[in-house]
Amino acid sequence: SQSSEGVIAQLKNRFEQALIAAFGEDLAGADPMLVPTSNPKFGDYQSNAPLALAKRLGKAPRAIAEELIQQLDVSDVCLPPAIAGAGFINFTLKPEYLAARLSAFQIDDRLGVEAVKKPKRTIVDFSSPNIAKEMHVGHLRSTIIGDCIARILEFQGHEVLRLNHVGDWGTQFGMLITYLREVCPEALTTADALDLGDLVAFYKKAKQRFDEDPDFQEKSRHEVVRLQSGAEDTLRAWNLLCEQSRKEFQVIYNLLDICITERGESFYNSLLASVVEDLEKVGLLVEDQGAKCVFLEGFQNREGQPLPLIIQKSDGGYNYATTDLAAIRYRIQQDQAKRLIYVTDAGQANHFAQVFQVARRAGWIPEDVDIEHVQFGLVQGEDGKKLKTRSGDTIRLRDLLDEAVDRARADLEARLQEEGRQETEEFIANAAQIVGISAVKYADLSQNRTSNYIFSYDKMLALQGNTAPYMLYAYVRVQGISRKGEIDFQNLGSDAKILLHEETELTLAKHLLQLEDALDQVGQDLFPNRLCQYLFELSQKFNQFYDRCPVLQAEDSIKTSRLMLCDLTARTLKLGLSLLGIRVLERM
Ligand code: ARG
Repeated sequence: SQSSEGVIAQLKNRFEQALIAAFGEDLAGADPMLVPTSNPKFGDYQSNAPLALAKRLGKAPRAIAEELIQQLDVSDVCLPPAIAGAGFINFTLKPEYLAARLSAFQIDDRLGVEAVKKPKRTIVDFSSPNIAKEMHVGHLRSTIIGDCIARILEFQGHEVLRLNHVGDWGTQFGMLITYLREVCPEALTTADALDLGDLVAFYKKAKQRFDEDPDFQEKSRHEVVRLQSGAEDTLRAWNLLCEQSRKEFQVIYNLLDICITERGESFYNSLLASVVEDLEKVGLLVEDQGAKCVFLEGFQNREGQPLPLIIQKSDGGYNYATTDLAAIRYRIQQDQAKRLIYVTDAGQANHFAQVFQVARRAGWIPEDVDIEHVQFGLVQGEDGKKLKTRSGDTIRLRDLLDEAVDRARADLEARLQEEGRQETEEFIANAAQIVGISAVKYADLSQNRTSNYIFSYDKMLALQGNTAPYMLYAYVRVQGISRKGEIDFQNLGSDAKILLHEETELTLAKHLLQLEDALDQVGQDLFPNRLCQYLFELSQKFNQFYDRCPVLQAEDSIKTSRLMLCDLTARTLKLGLSLLGIRVLERM
């Protein structure tokens, strides 16, 4: 029976069985070390397990390979496996197998990607900007990467909770509310929603007042106490600030098509005291100069002394880390999550390593729970420095995204003029919006997230290269074929068959079959650039096929088969891009 799991997963299964049959139960769980080959001369997949196992089995790799091949039953999927070099095993998929699998995709919206057998309740903590502060490019990266990860895990069948851990609590609110009392006292008494204008400017002015006036500082401290004790007018002011920020964040989320549930730092407020208590109970808490801390393993200060993580300050206040400790417990105990994912810049790597360590040592992370910090590098300007406007100010996200759309529009209008095409304003506005936003998202996702990347409108909007426009264009190209040939992809006839003769057809078909493996990879190690790379190669392989193989001009059965390949490519692109948070266009 042909199972419909990913090809790698399937071959790995068979391989494991062969390992056991050839060398005994001891080998159960040994890694088949199976990867797609980079060169077709080595077949489609290659294993170097015989080399890796040589020492353990006390045999020559080639001998191991031979014994393995004897036991390996892959005849339904592959041509007879071949031994190469020092003891590699090469696998080449059978055209009939490829054709049969791809034909089944014809009526499968999931394109062969099965839902996981053991769905995990997963929390993706992403975006998470701070109230009354600018949502900056770091938050943009977190938003784009986090959303993509959530989309992929959801598609795989996991139950995903998308959480926005907004910074909506802390001593800065004392300052903000004190300032609000000064400039807009009615905000503390009226129940009406007030428009506070630009919150970032408001924050700056409040900070300025705070820095220059000791009396203001004293009032601010008092206001923090009032907030913590739930004084009505202070809470009202706090709410007003949060509401205003929320509206601004939502503008960005709407532009980016982001779905996320707010559960800010304030949510964990009532749980902070018990974090301290329980750390005390398990004997981790140490008092150091009036502060309650946990001394960390593997972290040292400049003098080489063990580094403390402060859980409660000497004035009784709590920290960012305390809130994250409370959140871990809540997410594991109340939300019942089995996988906790945090998407922030690499600058917070220590914070998460420390918090995870304390939670682990306290016994709060059960064996069956995974906790991962998904970190990413900086967004830089074309000069390699921090991204800024020409005048040197920090860039507002809104402006950054608008500019991408404006430039996409200018590119499109130039192209329309060149091609002598007339399009409606509605068409142009929609296409510019999709291309512009997609370009920003794709530029981010296609980088290895751990490296810094340079934000360049020219690069991300280019029609050539590993860009959103290139990918969208490949999709449009296929739709063009169906329009030109007046083809209904949904209706190619019941005897429609996939026939794979030409090299470019085979190469494309093999790639189409690798979507599930690509998604499996991203689901495990959370590097979205692997999916981008998969889609980029798919577009390239499609273009090579389309250059080599006439479609509409081919004779009937071949024409149908090629149309099926075109349609599968388009559907794979559409699905893959949707998992990156990118919508396709039918024309552009
Ligand atoms: N608000 C934080 C920031 O802007 C990010 C929060 C990330 N999530 C978390 N659970 N700590 O840097």
